Order: sequence, then C-alpha cells, then structure tokens
Amino acid sequence: MRFETMAIHAGDRPDATTGAISVPIYQTSTFVFEDVGKTRGWDYSRTANPTRKVLEDTIAQLEGGKAGFAFATGMAAETTAMHLLKTGDHVISGNDVYGGTYRLFQDVMPAFGLEFTFLRMDNGKRIEEAIKPNTRMLWLETPSNPLLNIVDIEMVVDIAKKHKLLTVIDNTFATPYFLRPIEYGVDLVVHSTTKYLNGHCDVVGGAVVTTTDELTQRVQFLLNAMGTCASPFDCWLVLRGIETLPVRMKQHEENSFAVANYLKGHPKVKRVLYPGLESHRGHEIAKRQMKGFGGVVSFELGGGIEGVNTFLRKLKVFSLAESLGGVASLAEHPATMSHASMPKDYRKKVGITDELIRLSVGLEHVDDLTEDLEQAFSCL
Ligand SMILES: Cc1ncc(COP(=O)(O)O)c(C=O)c1O
Repeated sequence: MRFETMAIHAGDRPDATTGAISVPIYQTSTFVFEDVGKTRGWDYSRTANPTRKVLEDTIAQLEGGKAGFAFATGMAAETTAMHLLKTGDHVISGNDVYGGTYRLFQDVMPAFGLEFTFLRMDNGKRIEEAIKPNTRMLWLETPSNPLLNIVDIEMVVDIAKKHKLLTVIDNTFATPYFLRPIEYGVDLVVHSTTKYLNGHCDVVGGAVVTTTDELTQRVQFLLNAMGTCASPFDCWLVLRGIETLPVRMKQHEENSFAVANYLKGHPKVKRVLYPGLESHRGHEIAKRQMKGFGGVVSFELGGGIEGVNTFLRKLKVFSLAESLGGVASLAEHPATMSHASMPKDYRKKVGITDELIRLSVGLEHVDDLTEDLEQAFSCL
C-alpha cells in the first residue's frame, strides 16, 4: 500500500469484531478471560488495547518499522526510550533539540547515572571525537526545534554502525510523510504525536517505532512496566488525525513556503530559517533525504525583545501558544516558551536568540497568514 492508503487502512481495519469503519474506542481497563489462563487476546489495557494497537500498527507501517508503541506524551515516549540504557551509559545528543528533551537529558536522566554530551550534529569528525568507551546512543532531531537545523542522517548512521551505537531520531517535525529515517538505517524513531500526526491540537501523545525483534520486546516490556502508554480515546484522536496527514502536510508545506518567502523579503526581519529556502544551511541535505520541508518557519526580528513582544501581541490569525503541527497557525517565542528550560547562555551558544520567533504555519488561507504578519509588522 502507498502512504496515503496506509494512513487510512493500516492495522486491523475495519474492526474485525463488528465491521465498524471507524476504529472503535475500546474504553476499557480490563478484558474478561474466556477461562482460567485463557484470554481472548487481550487482558489489561496498560499491556495492550485494541484501539491503541491499530494506532501502533499504523505508525509502524508509515515509518516502515517493525512495531509501534503509543505513549501518553512525546516525553513519555522519550523517557521510555532512555530506559533502554543503563547506569554508566553515555549518549551523544544534538545540542538544539526540543527544550523538554534537553531538560530530560540534562536535569532528569543523569540522576540515574546516564551521561550526555550535546553537539551540533553536522560534523562527523566532531561526533567521532565525542564517542567514549561507554557511548551507547546517538540522539538526533531533524529538522530541529526551533532552529530547523538539518542532520545528515546517513552520515550519522555510518558512524553509529562503525561504533555499534544505537541511533534514535525524533521525527516529530518531518513526520514519515516527509522523512522515513528507518530507510537510512536509524534504529528507533520517536514522535510527539501531539504535533502533526494528531494535527488538531486536541491530544498530547507520543510514539516509538522499533526496527528489530529485540528492541520491540524491550520497548513493549518498558511501556508495560513503566505504564507510559496512551489512553484509548487519545489513540483514536491520533488515528483520525493520521488519516488526513498526507493532505495536511502538503498544505502545511505550501503555506510555509509562501510565509518563508514573504518573511525573506521583509525589511524588519533579520534572518529566516526554513529548510526549503536555498539560503538555508541544510537545504541540500534536506532536499536529498526528505520528500518535503515541513510546516515550521522560524525567523529573527530586528529591533530587540520589545519588538518581539509587540509583534506577538499584535498577531490575530496566528495564536500565541506552545506546540505546533495543528491546523490552526501558532506563533511562539522559544526563549520564554518552548525552550525556557534551556539556560540563557546555552540557548545563546546554540543560536536560540531572544529575537527568534517560531511559526507553526497552519492550514488557513495563506493570504490571511501573510496579511496577519504584515499588520503585526506595521505596529513595530
Ligand atoms: C520535537 C519534539 N519532540 C518531543 C516533544 C515532546 O512532546 P510532548 O509535548 O508530546 O510530550 C516536543 C514538544 O514540543 C517536540 O517539539
């Protein structure tokens, strides 16, 4: 099946028991046994749930992986993935990852004996130099949040294979519609399904996709043992969102190109970050490894923080809010919102300046989006 068809038909659909075309929400904690020691295939919803299973199979197929797992949040998915490691292990992570990922790695996991090095993942020599005898995992985010930096996945996977390291990629921004990291040899894919996969800002959720039987068994064990799984209703909402993922992603991208080109020519804008622009540092790699460039555009305003505050207050169609990937356009200020958990000096070092604004370009008419930006600029 092709991607668009899988997005609608993957997994046990229509429902085998009832023929329901919409996957039923099996809103149950437990399942009655047929006999002592004999289930109908399901026993307890933390371990497995039929609604969740359809979502898990769908995401696994869209990513081209072995198995999928659905979690309560993107951070629950990441936390579970980190438990594949053990005390004393070392992880090399991109240094411009989502602020919550950085917080998990910097402020939570070290208490359990994990060690982290944060790097820009664009230089193979730099990555190899950071590898230590206890390094076990390379963690990538591409395009990264909020700088839209691009990692050359094949280059990183080559290094990982040479040193027998596990590669994990956060594919939240690109989605499998634009990027299928497993085709490049990545071992594990994680998602915040809160974003494009759900697409309607009515769920927080996460996912992990595995590539081997060993990883599948381990993630299934951890999900059940740690209880990090998603609820049936949230799974249903994400499933419904995924059905329209291909059409939404195409339109997100078309609108983003228009917004990026509009911003590029604007006298009050210092720089525009969108991997689809030829001027973007990672454009050539993005063009090679992705089918499209996504729906997030970041830019720096000239004129300091006061200008940023005024601009954000004046927006009308774009709402000032955390998150991204929904049908409604959102604007946010990474320094005080999504990346506030990164210390200021660290943000400065990686390039997340106080003047940076991140736009999640939605599916409204693009002229309403550019006109909204224009009227906000005119207030500066
Ligand atoms: C790239 C990325 N990964 C992970 C997460 C965490 O996901 P959640 O908010 O669903 O826990 C986010 C949230 O913004 C994100 O942008």
